[in-house]
Amino acid sequence: MQSTWSHLRPYLILGLAAVATAATGCAEVPTAIFRPVSPGAGAIQSLSVYLLVLAGLVLLLVETLLLLAVFRFRNRPEEMAVQTHGNLRLETGWTVATAIVIFGILGLTVRTMGEASSVPEAALPQSSAWPGDTLVLRVVGVQWWWRFEYPELGIVTANEVHVPVDRPIKLQLESADVIHSFWAPRLAGKTDMIPGQVNYSAFLATEPGVYEGECAEFCGVEHARMGFRVFVDSAADFSAWVRSQQSPASTPTSEEQRAGQEAFQRACSSCHAVAGTAAAGTLGPDLTHFGSRTTLAANTLSNTPENLARWLRDPQGVKPGNNMPDLRLDQATLEQLVAYLESLK
Ligand code: CUA
Repeated sequence: MQSTWSHLRPYLILGLAAVATAATGCAEVPTAIFRPVSPGAGAIQSLSVYLLVLAGLVLLLVETLLLLAVFRFRNRPEEMAVQTHGNLRLETGWTVATAIVIFGILGLTVRTMGEASSVPEAALPQSSAWPGDTLVLRVVGVQWWWRFEYPELGIVTANEVHVPVDRPIKLQLESADVIHSFWAPRLAGKTDMIPGQVNYSAFLATEPGVYEGECAEFCGVEHARMGFRVFVDSAADFSAWVRSQQSPASTPTSEEQRAGQEAFQRACSSCHAVAGTAAAGTLGPDLTHFGSRTTLAANTLSNTPENLARWLRDPQGVKPGNNMPDLRLDQATLEQLVAYLESLK
């Protein structure tokens, strides 16, 4: 008994931890699938709960029958067990019953797949400032960050994206290299991003807030640090954000920032773009409004001057395997670059 318990204990603890995590679904947990803020994510949650209840009932039934059989037909020395060979009625029964359950689940799953990647007309709130007006968001997965583009608004950004509340967002999902998967658990289901193919999905956020997203398809050494943030804004906040993103990058206002801009042109501009300057690289994230972002290195660090300095000094130490080379910057250049980049609001 003692040894059985010690064998089972780790699994039990793991199971309890998983249940506790799923139940609390705190704000910092990116996989808070049980607190949807969009009709599509809500459909996925309903299906999950339904399947959990169904599986629980099947478990209860099977275990009850098993215990009953163990008890009723236990070994009695004075009795000889009845020898049987097959039971057509029983076998047909459990085959048909299982098939009914499986096909039921299949039907529900297919229906949810449709609901999770579209915004039904009925879900559009009457009060929406944009009734039925869909905003297209192009998302490109890159090892290991996200390029976000609004083709209709002429905005390019990276790793942090803003969308208006109560307006349908159409996602156009692509990849620049390997297969990634777009997943913002509280907003939309996972959709693969496949090289050479465009996949579509959609969502409608019903509550302003900040929602975490991550890559859900193993895509190489930094797959775990390929995160993003979705800011769901009120109509007014979103318009303000669009205006600030459409404006050109801030021009340096101090000697240090000016020196930083020159260093940026030399060391960084072959990979990074800052709109309105000569820097037009496309291999890495667009940094036109870098200073307005809350995180850096694809949701790996919060965007503070200290963290940016740490990142520039040793990108491979912060995120080993990423494609940003060690630039061997001296301390003065490093500080100038930090001053310049953080000024790009
Ligand atoms: Cu991209 Cu995992």
